Order: sequence, then structure tokens, then C-alpha cells
Amino acid sequence: MSATNREVILGIGGGIAAYKSADLLRRLQDFGFDVTVVPTPASLNFVGAATWEALSGHPVTTQVWENVHEVRHIKLGKNADYFIIAPATADLIARLAIGRADDLLTNLVLASEARKMVVPAMHPSMWRNAATQANVATLRARGFLVMEPDTGRLTGEDFGPGRFPETQKIIENFLGFIGIEQDLAGKQVLVTAGGTREAIDPVRFIGNKSSGKQGIAIAKAAKRRGAHVKVVVANVLVQEIPGIELIHVESADQMLEALLANFDSCDILVMAAAVADAKPTIQANEKIKKNSFTQIDLVPNPDLLAVLKDKKGGQIMVGFAAETSDLIASAEKKMDAKGLDLIYVNDVSGGAIFGEDQTEGMIILKNGEVVANGKISKDTLANSLLDYALKQLG
Ligand code: CTP
Repeated sequence: MSATNREVILGIGGGIAAYKSADLLRRLQDFGFDVTVVPTPASLNFVGAATWEALSGHPVTTQVWENVHEVRHIKLGKNADYFIIAPATADLIARLAIGRADDLLTNLVLASEARKMVVPAMHPSMWRNAATQANVATLRARGFLVMEPDTGRLTGEDFGPGRFPETQKIIENFLGFIGIEQDLAGKQVLVTAGGTREAIDPVRFIGNKSSGKQGIAIAKAAKRRGAHVKVVVANVLVQEIPGIELIHVESADQMLEALLANFDSCDILVMAAAVADAKPTIQANEKIKKNSFTQIDLVPNPDLLAVLKDKKGGQIMVGFAAETSDLIASAEKKMDAKGLDLIYVNDVSGGAIFGEDQTEGMIILKNGEVVANGKISKDTLANSLLDYALKQLG
């Protein structure tokens, strides 16, 4: 198993549906999976290795005889978290069922303990054939998820079960198989991430230590669970997250503008960003010379959540509180003042948490319930916050 739980091997069998797996590969990447493609030699008649290399960003080999010194079948197999074999032809299913290892893909399947899903695509007569059905039953008995093919028109004039299912259906089956429910499908999730910067002059600003990791983790988790996700990002080094809309801002005022434009249409707002509480009264157009750089006058920034509280309809609002003392009492006060439905409070005494992959704190619900988490990853917290938010959304 890999450290990220996101390594997928996409096995391609030698059927015409191979071209449809190019779309499947792209959508898997949208969900944050790192996909390595392993085609059977026969499948290269339909889609060539160059296509898979370009789309996946990884080298593509089909035989164990290539790059022998790397012992590729063992290395790839060890790193893989999941296999999706799509399309799987009758021949490939037969080879998998009897445990053949006559190309790289079948070697990998034998050598890896990762969970495996098979998406058959073939002529209806081949699908219905007793031999294929027995092979499918064997794979299912061994724990493979073998999808049922769709029924419809095949490449020629024929009609029946054997069509490669739509990408969306394959993705839903896969996410369900690996335990990611699509419970946020149809929901709009708006997240803020990072820390605002308030300009003093063209080169200086007042900022904070937020890395944006928690907000980005929430956005990705929501996306994996089927939500439509927008993230207002402030000063985080992230250019693109496939499948997620990023709105880049610098300052608290710009963040408020982006939130006001997107709040009405969202179901859940998660304010993970650290917003500067004040900004310089004057933002100098020219760099201030050091002799005159002696004092900065400040005016408060708007409290963004408090502004949104007045516009709140049925939305669930999730806030964060960074505290150094009186954690629960201070967080409850914020929850009330900002119209929040739940708040995650963490102890930032000593600058802890910022930039880390782990977090430690408490989730406080509107009914006063306090859920204390030990040290958990920001990904785990992301899912936990989304669970509570969804429960309150009803
Ligand atoms: N927040 C906000 N607008 C601000 C400041 C903070 O919407 N101007 C949001 C943050 O995104 C966070 C929550 O309010 O979700 C609490 O942030 P925190 O910095 O802990 O609280 P403050 O309201 O700034 O209060 P204080 O600094 O006095 O603790």
C-alpha cells in the first residue's frame, strides 16, 4: 500500500472500448488518484502506449521483459492501492481467472494484494458464454468486483449485454467499492483556504502562517464524495486542482467579494482560511523608505462570517477557531457571533498545526456536543467535518 492510498493501476484489455478508458483515466485523476496505465500487448492495437504515457504522465510497459532490472511487476504491484481493469475482454477475464502471468498486467494482478475491479466489455455471445460466466464467478469469489456490462448496441449491428458502461457509472462503482460514498452528490461546497495578505506597500504585507493545507484537504474530500466544489484560495501555492474551481484572492476584502458572489448557491460553507483581522489604513503606492517606516496604522477588516450570517438561508456554515487558551468557551462564543453550525477549534499555542499534515483539536456542534480528536490527519478531519455538516444539512 502506498502512503497516500491513491495509487491506481488501470489495466487495459484488447477491446475497442479501450479508447473510452482515456476518459476514465482523466476522471480518476480529477478525483486525486495517481494512475499508472498497464495495457495488454493486444490492446495497443486500439490505443497506443504514447496516448497512455501522455495522459497518465507515467512510463507505459506491457511486458515483464522491458526494464527487467527494475523488477517492474513487483514494484508496481507493491505500490498499487487499487486495480481497475477496463475494458476486460473475455480472454483477459479467462487469463485472470486461471492465474496466468503471460504479460505485465496479469503478472501484476498475481503479485499484488491491492483491491481489484474489473469492467467487462465484449460481444453479448461471449459475455453469456458459460466459460466467461464461470470465470466471472471465480473472480467474484476471490473478491474482485466485476461490474455487469451495459446492455445496448455493440460496435456492429448486434444488441445485448456487453457494452462498456459510462465513465460516471464506473467511477461511482469504484468509489463505492473502495468505501467512498457519493453522499455529497448534487451538493455545492464552498471552501476558503490559506491566509489573507493586507498590503502595506507594493512589497510588504501583513500576513499569517496559514498554509492552506486544511482547506485544500476539505475541498478534495468534498470532491471525492461527489460535491461540486469551489475554493477561494488566499496565497497558497496551488495552480490547479482537477475538477475543482479555484478563485484566487489576496486580501480579506477580495475574499469577501468572492464569498458574496458564491454564497447564495452553496449548501455548505467551510471557512478554513485565516483572515487578517485588520489592514493598514493606507496602502502606499510606492515602497515606503526605511527611514519613514516606523509605524503602521490599522483599521479592522470586516468579519466575513458575520457578514454572511445575515445572508444565511439554509446553508450550513463551518468555521475554525485558532486559540491559545480557554479553547471551548472561546470557540462557542465565536460559533454564536458568526452564526456557525459547527466549529473546529485547535490549540495554536507555540505555532502548532500551521503547515503540518496533522491536526489536533475539537469539533463543537451547535447543541453543545464536543468531539475531541487526538492527532489526526487533515484529510481525516476534512471528512469528519463534512460528515457533521451533511448530517445538519439533513
Ligand atoms: N474569520 C472571518 N473573518 C475575519 C476573521 C476570521 O470570517 N475577519 C473566520 C475564520 O475563517 C474562522 C473563524 O472566523 O473560520 C474564526 O477565526 P479566528 O481567527 O479564530 O477568530 P477571529 O474572529 O479572528 O477572533 P480572534 O482573532 O479575536 O480570536
